[in-house]
Amino acid sequence: MNLPQKERSFVAIKPDGVQRSLVGEIVKRFERTGLKLVGLKMMMATEEKCWVHYNKDEKWYEEKGANVVKNRTAAGLPIEKPAIEYGRDIIGALIKFMTCSPIVAMVWEGNQAVGIVKKLVGGTEPTTSDVGTIRGDLTLDSYELSNLASRAVRNLIHCSDKPEEALREIQIWFDENELIN
Ligand code: PPS
Repeated sequence: MNLPQKERSFVAIKPDGVQRSLVGEIVKRFERTGLKLVGLKMMMATEEKCWVHYNKDEKWYEEKGANVVKNRTAAGLPIEKPAIEYGRDIIGALIKFMTCSPIVAMVWEGNQAVGIVKKLVGGTEPTTSDVGTIRGDLTLDSYELSNLASRAVRNLIHCSDKPEEALREIQIWFDENELIN
């Protein structure tokens, strides 16, 4: 039986978190809740794994791209391609960033681990992440700035959004024998 207290979440400290020496600070925040660390490795992410991980659909690219077009227009920048291509560039830039230097991949386990981790990490865009969260306390980037500069948003961490996503993501990044039971 899969007991609810065994829920797992996948977390990756991105290159900015490693480069800024925030690994200890981030791990400490998760540990304090009582969540159990059942997998941990520092690694270079490959482009291949990242594209499987960030499996966005056309709708996502279209919607995100439309925002980029809006921001470029407001900034007086030319629109050089369809919105959907700007949307694809977001994930392209993110993957370029994820593969530029080491990440720390982790699996945290415990009651409602996915929700607890999300609460600690804070909203995806640093400018709107709540104070007290990892992103809210330690980052200041925005989608607008990162999109206009054609680079990934610096938000320190990736974490699973839903329990079923966590199962999918853990399989991408970890072999079963790398996780502690
Ligand atoms: S959303 O808004 O829930 O659909 O976004 P999400 O699925 O979490 O996004 C996947 C990753 O894309 C990054 N992202 C962006 N970067 C730059 N600009 C924009 N507009 C943007 N929207 C999303 C975001 O950082 C997500 O990566 P992770 O690794 O989860 O932080």
